[in-house]
Amino acid sequence: MLNRSMVTHHKMWQITTKLPKKKIPILLQMEVKLPLLLVICLLPGITATKYDEFTYNGFNRSELYLDGIAEITTNGLLRLTNSTESQQGHAFHKVPLRFKNTSDGNVHSFSTCFVFAIPPEYPDVSGNGLAFVLSPTRGLPGALTKQYLGLFNSTNNGNSSNHILAIELDTVLNIEFRDINNNHVGIDVNGLTSLNAAPASYFTEKIGEFKNLSLVSREPMLVWVDYSNQEKKLNVTMSPISVPKPSRPLLSSLIDLSSVLLDTMYIGFSSSTGSMLTSHYVLGWSFKMNGQAPALNLSSLPSLPFEKHRRKLTALIIWVALGVVVFIAITACCIAYIIRRKARYAEVLEEWELEHRTHRFSYKELFKATKGFREENLLGVGGFGRVYKGKLPSSKTEIAVKRISHDSKQGMREFVGEIASNSQLRHRNLVQLLGYSRRKGELLLVYEFMSNGSLDKFLYDANKPTTLGSSQRLKIIKGVASGLLYLHEEWEQIVVHRDIKASNVLLDGEMNGKLGDFGLSRLYDHGSDPQITHVVGTFGYIAPELTKTGRATTSTDVFAFGVFILEVVCGRRPIMQQESPDLHLVDWVLGSWRNGVILEVIDARLGGDYDVGEVELILKIGLLCSNPVRAARPTMRQVMQLLDGDLSLPEIPKDGMGIAVSSPNHAEELEES
Ligand SMILES: *[C@@H]1O[C@H](CO)[C@@H](O)[C@H](O)[C@H]1NC(C)=O
Ligand SMILES: *[C@@H]1O[C@H](CO)[C@@H](O)[C@H](O)[C@H]1NC(C)=O
Ligand SMILES: *[C@@H]1O[C@H](CO)[C@@H](O)[C@H](O)[C@H]1NC(C)=O
Ligand SMILES: *[C@@H]1O[C@H](CO)[C@@H](O)[C@H](O)[C@H]1NC(C)=O
Repeated sequence: MLNRSMVTHHKMWQITTKLPKKKIPILLQMEVKLPLLLVICLLPGITATKYDEFTYNGFNRSELYLDGIAEITTNGLLRLTNSTESQQGHAFHKVPLRFKNTSDGNVHSFSTCFVFAIPPEYPDVSGNGLAFVLSPTRGLPGALTKQYLGLFNSTNNGNSSNHILAIELDTVLNIEFRDINNNHVGIDVNGLTSLNAAPASYFTEKIGEFKNLSLVSREPMLVWVDYSNQEKKLNVTMSPISVPKPSRPLLSSLIDLSSVLLDTMYIGFSSSTGSMLTSHYVLGWSFKMNGQAPALNLSSLPSLPFEKHRRKLTALIIWVALGVVVFIAITACCIAYIIRRKARYAEVLEEWELEHRTHRFSYKELFKATKGFREENLLGVGGFGRVYKGKLPSSKTEIAVKRISHDSKQGMREFVGEIASNSQLRHRNLVQLLGYSRRKGELLLVYEFMSNGSLDKFLYDANKPTTLGSSQRLKIIKGVASGLLYLHEEWEQIVVHRDIKASNVLLDGEMNGKLGDFGLSRLYDHGSDPQITHVVGTFGYIAPELTKTGRATTSTDVFAFGVFILEVVCGRRPIMQQESPDLHLVDWVLGSWRNGVILEVIDARLGGDYDVGEVELILKIGLLCSNPVRAARPTMRQVMQLLDGDLSLPEIPKDGMGIAVSSPNHAEELEES
């Protein structure tokens, strides 16, 4: 049945191919009308292109005849066998091709190219193989599986009446067919014993050698089969898919196919499996009679199922790797951010600090309170550092933060100790130290915020709209005196302020004077800044003996306080630079007093609105305190009594010397401890 139908088909085909060669010239001679000529001319053209040459980049729209377990997968792969034991599959081009020249019986040159892949279920164990085959029949009836590759059976193997040419890709070594190994390519004519065979390999132009290939590597590979009519030579060439056609074939056999092939032959593939589970795939195929097989478009070949899986896996790996990289990058960024944040707010806390009960603020808290120590929060710049206004985020308490750079480590310990004790000092006329914070090389002191700023601004800043009245000035002087008395005598330790001056007196909302920066001058001694290391106090307020001995005492504080009194009453700086030569405020006031014009020194801005007796008394107290003779200065307690009128002012001799209040030696006992 099959054979008969095939023959009819064969004959029909024969007629069409005959037309161009012989009949057209005759027709031309006969001057046949043009329309008929066109019809006849087109007919062989269709046949020739449609069947003598074809290209399949995938088999979705192919004209293949399949048998056995061969099938075309949904994505266009030709799967000759799947992983099923002892099966065979065939796929033939539906239409037989005329291989022989009818005039001389010679076989035409032909060329074919295909891509195959053999993925075994288990790596490197496979069976049996596949073959490109030229067969007189469509399908190979009676062929066996396993070593017979779906081509032959035990009876017809080797029989020349088979008329079969096969190029086998054999993955099993069969002694009976004299196979060379289990990974070879062979040219088979009518039987499984190859005329010519070679281990699967390809010629590499670079090294000029053959490189081994593994048929069962799962990798798609290319095979070219070329027959030359003139040379009577059959070449078989192989290469991995990534390599262009090598210049040297793997197999090259001199063979006259005219004795093997019939006039018309079916071309296709055969494959069989044995006991090893293997699939055999063809991905693409092209053929051309009398010419070079068209090149396959390798990029558009269907992908293999395992390859897809692998691609998916590769994609997955790439995504996972990408994910990991991104994760690492994000983590690194976070860590960098945390480190930066930590560095930004880093503090130094040492064990000894825990002994002190002083509140320690976190740097972060202060950083936030002062909006990152912004310029607009800057209250002032002093000898010790910059002072910033702030608001504690938690309690909304207004604070002033003094930022002091400090390089000396040893000094810091003493200094913090001192701060700790100073924070225990509580007096309504002392600016309250609320706590501190510390970083490397930096100390931050947190004080209560004084809304009216420092006193010197009111005395000297022409822009200040309000002038201090005499009673306000007196209140401030009394307040500072009271604070200083507390430092000198009323606390458990004697604290020498060392830097009494108008700019260190701060005013709260009710214009109460409070002494700030007490005890801070010790910082100078600790040697942070070499330029100010040995400067104690402020020029103009320094008692004469202090420049000689360098020892600050309660008496040197009293001297500075005396200058401060004159400063407040006169509204002038201690060193009057407008006079030439520079005149000290004390000398100027003393001079005026001697000349009987003491009231002339009083700040003109008061506009005469003051109690003359009261102001004169205060001026005299100021002079008494700023007496160059240390022994002549009163103690702060006496100053308080004088200010309160509880002690009468001693007579001050006009030369300014020898004035004394009772128990002048008291001051000497109150030296810095
Ligand atoms: C192989 O193909 C046959 C026939 O199409 C089918 O019955 C069988 O399930 C397939 N086996 C596998 C493992 O795909
Ligand atoms: C070859 O096959 C033909 C046809 O099937 C048969 O007549 C002949 O006996 C076979 N030759 C041999 C040697 O088996
Ligand atoms: C290539 O394969 C052949 C046959 O299996 C073997 O003899 C040869 O050593 C192999 N060559 C290389 C370089 O592996
Ligand atoms: C076959 O290979 C040989 C040697 O490389 C070459 O000379 C010849 O032209 C090839 N023939 C065909 C048909 O490709």
